[in-house]
Amino acid sequence: MTAEGGHLLEVRGLRVEFPTRAGLVRAVDDVAFHVDAGETLGIVGESGSGKSVTVLSVMRLLPPPGRIVSGEVRYRGRDLVRVSDQEMQEIRGVEIAMIFQDPMTSLNPVFRTGWQVGEPLRLHRGLDRSRSLRETVAMLGKVGIPEPDRRARQYPHELSGGMRQRAMIAMGLTTTPSVLIADEPTTALDVTIQAQILELLKQINRELGTATVLITHNLAVVAGMCERVMVMYAGRIVEEGPTEEVFDHPRHPYTWSLLRSIPRLDSDHREPLQAIEGLPPDLIDLPSGCAFHPRCPFAEERCAGERPELAPVGGRRRAACWVTQAGRDLPPTGRETDAPG
Ligand SMILES: Nc1ncnc2c1ncn2[C@@H]1O[C@H](COP(=O)(O)OP(=O)(O)OP(=O)(O)O)[C@@H](O)[C@H]1O
Ligand code: SF4
Ligand SMILES: [Mg+2]
Repeated sequence: MTAEGGHLLEVRGLRVEFPTRAGLVRAVDDVAFHVDAGETLGIVGESGSGKSVTVLSVMRLLPPPGRIVSGEVRYRGRDLVRVSDQEMQEIRGVEIAMIFQDPMTSLNPVFRTGWQVGEPLRLHRGLDRSRSLRETVAMLGKVGIPEPDRRARQYPHELSGGMRQRAMIAMGLTTTPSVLIADEPTTALDVTIQAQILELLKQINRELGTATVLITHNLAVVAGMCERVMVMYAGRIVEEGPTEEVFDHPRHPYTWSLLRSIPRLDSDHREPLQAIEGLPPDLIDLPSGCAFHPRCPFAEERCAGERPELAPVGGRRRAACWVTQAGRDLPPTGRETDAPG
């Protein structure tokens, strides 16, 4: 909570649509979440479930023809959906920073790395060229780039993938934002570098109290890094709660299936993957009732006809499922963190 009593960042009733030739795509539907200083929130869900569209809406960076049709994005009490473009520009990158999956798409190949990383300093803090360069080099060093003064003079393609991602993080941090949103920040990197980048994000969260929103396909990453998790399916949140509780006792069959499809969270050894059966739904023509019902091993008659809303299922947990809302438990996934190896 902030001094004003609200959350630092709070999204309510967010709905995003893409009018396409094939029909109206409702990419995000009734999504709500919040983060406060020092917190870490993970967002998981299969490809196309609306994770990126959700955070791009927060930044007001939706690709056309995407549009926010309803909802609020409150940052320190102000609704970012309704502030002017100029106000948004001052918030974006200064108060709320975002790191993308592939830094090559956000770093411009024709400018030297240091010049780009220092741009927020010149633009938003009005530093001159030489002071911004000095601070940039210091920041590159802080995020673990060796020989930062030499690297600052190089072009993005002269850096390794891991170094480019660090440079992106450095750029996001130059203005000490209150919220850092990372969308699959390590997917393109090899495992060792992934771990280092995640460790860096964790360190930033701990030391600077930066509220962190992390999108990832990797449930083990969420388990190691995020206190809370929200699981998305077909543009909606189907389950949310404290990460450990959600992963130990999922209360939505989709979460349950996701957990069954991966190796154990707390071990490195590889087990055969069990894919979730069926196809992700067509967002233009969603299944009736619960959108997961055609793939759900626990579906009942009611599920095809009526859509369950996200509702409390004990403690700080919420899930959108008729079965668990009726107080029934799902069977063990065999992936519980305390299960015998
Ligand atoms: N430019 C676009 N035009 C039309 N539809 C789009 C566009 N961008 C996204 N969508 C729709 O929004 C849905 C959600 O996309 P989003 O990028 O948020 O998925 P995601 O959960 O981030 O997936 P991934 O894990 O693959 O990154 C997509 O399934 C797609 O139907
Ligand atoms: S509401 Fe029904 S179909 Fe949907 S997840 Fe729960 S049991 Fe499965
Ligand atoms: Mg995405």
